[in-house]
Amino acid sequence: AFNERESLYIALGFAKDFFVANLQKEEGKAIGFSYFKERGFSQAIIDKFDLGYAMDGWDHLLKAAKKSGHSEEILLKAGLILQKEGEPERLYDRFRGRVTFTIHNLGGKPIGFGARILTQDKKQPKYINSPETEVYHKSDVLYGMFQAKKSIREKDNCYLVEGYTDVVSMHLSGIENVVASSGTSLTENQIKLIKRFTDNVTVLFDGDAAGIKASLRGIDMLLEGGLNVKAVVFPEGNDPDSYSRKVGSNAFQEYLAKFSKDFIAFKISLYAEEASNDPIKRADLIKQVVQSLSKIPDPIIRSVYIRQSANLLEIEEEIIQIELNKILLKVQ
Ligand code: CTP
Ligand code: MN
Ligand code: MN
Ligand code: MN
Ligand code: MN
Repeated sequence: AFNERESLYIALGFAKDFFVANLQKEEGKAIGFSYFKERGFSQAIIDKFDLGYAMDGWDHLLKAAKKSGHSEEILLKAGLILQKEGEPERLYDRFRGRVTFTIHNLGGKPIGFGARILTQDKKQPKYINSPETEVYHKSDVLYGMFQAKKSIREKDNCYLVEGYTDVVSMHLSGIENVVASSGTSLTENQIKLIKRFTDNVTVLFDGDAAGIKASLRGIDMLLEGGLNVKAVVFPEGNDPDSYSRKVGSNAFQEYLAKFSKDFIAFKISLYAEEASNDPIKRADLIKQVVQSLSKIPDPIIRSVYIRQSANLLEIEEEIIQIELNKILLKVQ
């Protein structure tokens, strides 16, 4: 007999196989597979990430899963189906008429799905994701870690992106050391997860206001976690997926190499234009940099960065130290 966790894994594995197989069937081929093809996703990358398609309709998965012996209770607990209250109670598929991104645990077992809409319908969410379940703790998971972990170790660096499609596209560009936060802010456990494989993170968030805000927040959290942090800004309106497709994989790799900036230089470059001839904005920038410096737990690393910040900001180290002490002493 299986315990409940095992039954959940088996049901999620069934759903993964079902969604993947749908890409070969009539509807899935015409809609799902051509969507991926249009995005430049090859069959090899579809296989590598277990990409799939959830057919349009209320109970395609539910019926097939029940036929294979999965109980309604387990399908509900796996987050694969939903229950409509009322008389009679009705069960229906969570993912309908969408392409699916399988979320794996570190061992490669499916634990959840993200499902993207195929129309421009603004009334529906772009992605529908699995809920928290007994086997999917969102705050512990980074999308793509299963496919990335070996490369993260080898490269001793981890690229952190926002979205599922960014991870997939970067693999197509030959970059495998990449994981996604899936649009939510980073958690301590996710940072610990990265630290199992490397101390170095490069943040590649979307080139829009939301992405820049998220990357600033992410940078400070990563610094607090004791990681070395770099960041890259993409031209306005681009994310790693769109930009790599636009310029091609060679130019994309060159862009990353050329524009990966230390977090201080990154912050300065964000504020530089406004701050160049406005003393108040300049003071604000210095405070922003000091704020990040205060997050670095290791005093030796911190002192290296203090010197670098002083150089880049063209001010005395002492001034930074004084500002820093204000924050550090307040915290204690
Ligand atoms: N996201 C989500 N729910 C939404 C919107 C976004 O869960 N309604 C998460 C997804 O993990 C998504 C990530 O946030 O991949 C980044 O969002 P966004 O940049 O809007 O999507 P992209 O990944 O760029 O998707 P696409 O290129 O297909 O538009
Ligand atoms: Mn947990
Ligand atoms: Mn975005
Ligand atoms: Mn995006
Ligand atoms: Mn995108």
